[in-house]
Amino acid sequence: MNLFDVYPLFNITPVRASGSYLWDEQGNQYLDLYGGHAVISVGHGHPYYVKQLTNQLHQIGFYSNSVQIPMQSVLAQKLGEQSGYEEYQFFMCNSGAEANENAFKLASFHTGRKKIVAFEKSFHGRTSAAVAATDDPSIVAPVNETSNIVFCQWNDEVMLQQIFDTHEIAAVIIEGIQGVGGVNIPKVSFLQKIKLVCDQHGALMICDEIQSGYGRSGKFFAHQHANIRPDIITVAKGMGNGFPVGGVLIHPNIKPKHGMLGTTFGGNYLACAAAIAVLDIIEQENLVSNASQVGQYLMQQLKGIPGIKEIRGLGLMIGIELQVPCAAIRNELLNEYKIFTGSASNKNTLRILPALNISNTEADIFITAFRNVMQKQFKESASQA
Ligand SMILES: Cc1ncc(COP(=O)(O)O)c(C=O)c1O
Repeated sequence: MNLFDVYPLFNITPVRASGSYLWDEQGNQYLDLYGGHAVISVGHGHPYYVKQLTNQLHQIGFYSNSVQIPMQSVLAQKLGEQSGYEEYQFFMCNSGAEANENAFKLASFHTGRKKIVAFEKSFHGRTSAAVAATDDPSIVAPVNETSNIVFCQWNDEVMLQQIFDTHEIAAVIIEGIQGVGGVNIPKVSFLQKIKLVCDQHGALMICDEIQSGYGRSGKFFAHQHANIRPDIITVAKGMGNGFPVGGVLIHPNIKPKHGMLGTTFGGNYLACAAAIAVLDIIEQENLVSNASQVGQYLMQQLKGIPGIKEIRGLGLMIGIELQVPCAAIRNELLNEYKIFTGSASNKNTLRILPALNISNTEADIFITAFRNVMQKQFKESASQA
């Protein structure tokens, strides 16, 4: 059987990884500033993470939610404390898309309504309602098409108000920082307006923190830069540092009936061990503040490099919008300097999503390489002009 072609970004076959580095079959070392789609939060093969997962596997790896799994409560407690959402309920699932599907179900059950507001350039996953709320028609199949999603322009308060004036809205879903769309940070006033208009109309605000959460932005959740408290928050990616896991934080006023949400794999022992280990490491190593500090350092050092149109970002979620498409630059960084970087649906934007424990020294390796690549590229284009 042939493999289905998904979307390999790098023609590399990693066989080993540690911290912010990967090694391929030939022993070449790569600096990882992409974390496999923003998943590696505490670094590859962190010794504590490996130990906790291994110990757990020796004890009991899996049973479904048909038994009591006290580790789920330990995880919920720690997540509540570290994020500041102690009073919320926590539902565990296996991925980001699944978290968003469950968030939509909760909002719809709670309000009795069907319509969800999503934003231009959004990405919420590839399952049915999540992909319908994703602003990329190329991945929406006819079976996913629905009139239940209403798209609004980014940061457009007037349009948002008009949508609420003309539709019965169950929820608004917004990424804490848009990732795939090109690292777009919502205005503080816009996030506050969403929360206000939701409250006024009995709708729920869902914040998708799947990419921007877990300390990446320099606060536990990116929306906390705007001082708001959404009704529902979805998490995945960095939560498991590579172990597939997702979750939904649910305001206590939302009371799903027993059995409304469910899952076979969600909340299993190994998933809990991975997610607890990640939170322990984030706390013990002060990684939220490291993300803030190294992120600021990176953004500072990037200033003045030729060929950059705009630098957007918070913490270690950084988008470098170039004056030209970024594919050639990414390839050169990979081939000449052995550095993984990401792209975005906006083809000019390079996305930087390193592990939260990356050091300034590792950041410097990227800055030097990136400056060289950009200087060469822009010298070449100037001489061709
Ligand atoms: C903001 C956001 N939401 C949801 C998803 C979907 O997550 P998953 O691929 O785990 O289903 C992604 C994945 O890139 C994402 O960036």
